[in-house]
Amino acid sequence: MTSRIAIQVIKTIKDMRRLRQILHGTIGFVPTMGYLHKGHLSLVKLAQEKNDHVIVSIFINPKQFGPKEDFQTYPRNTKRDLLLLKKANVGIVFLPNVDELYPSGYESYVHVEKVTKKLEGKSRPQHFIGVATVVTKLFNIIQPSHAYFGQKDAQQVIVIKKMVTDLNIPIDIIVGETLRESDGLAMSSRNIFLNDRERKQANIIYKSLRFAQQLFESGEDNTKKIKSKMKNLIHTTLGHVDYISISDPQTLKEVAKIDKMVLVNLVVRFGKTRLIDNIYLKKIK
Ligand code: PAJ
Repeated sequence: MTSRIAIQVIKTIKDMRRLRQILHGTIGFVPTMGYLHKGHLSLVKLAQEKNDHVIVSIFINPKQFGPKEDFQTYPRNTKRDLLLLKKANVGIVFLPNVDELYPSGYESYVHVEKVTKKLEGKSRPQHFIGVATVVTKLFNIIQPSHAYFGQKDAQQVIVIKKMVTDLNIPIDIIVGETLRESDGLAMSSRNIFLNDRERKQANIIYKSLRFAQQLFESGEDNTKKIKSKMKNLIHTTLGHVDYISISDPQTLKEVAKIDKMVLVNLVVRFGKTRLIDNIYLKKIK
């Protein structure tokens, strides 16, 4: 049997700071909203490989949900999350409640201006303000040396990297690849909202990304045509395309013709569930 360390669950900023003061060496931090799956745990593993200590936070951040979004129904199972983290040998979990991070009278926000206006930002105008604000707060409380984010949320990674650069935050941002179910569907806490039929069809999202790659590899560089073919493929299912974007990976500006590396990003809705995924396309020479 492998030996396991006891898990410390810290609920207040004061206790987190006290513990942080006695930790030495590198600290890898994995922020999450809980309802953990293998995608989250792959980030934990990356953090464990490189750091002396690993801290995982679980906090469903109300500020990144719009008024009509799923904050109330976002899946929660802290007991199971803590078991999974214990099993994964995580020693420290930061689990604040909403009042701890946003006491009454809270009024400060972090806004990354341009990249947050594209893609997700178009339909969710407050979303990235909420993300950037909570991540800054968590960075200030935990003061990690390294922080881990998933490529699945490609725009989130771009926003966090920009914020860290622009605000001179001394933390290395490390990006972990997207973990997928065996049929290609990107793992997500929201996948449990899919009914059986939707779940079966939801692998069309990754199929459409692979299709884009095939089209590109067989010489198609016109993004309008690629997007239209992806859309037609997805619309053979119950899935509804919110957007498909083929853009510059740094600025997220749409490109008409692929002549350098691009990011293909899409959101597809099955019923009320919005699923997000992406891949990079690059010329292999
Ligand atoms: P959450 O959706 O819980 O995701 C936590 C981290 O896990 C994010 O960096 C996300 O990109 C990563 N992740 C999710 N699914 C993944 C998958 N299939 N493979 C690999 N990594 C995956 O993203 C958030 O929470 C929040 O916005 C947060 C950063 C915690 C701020 O509130």
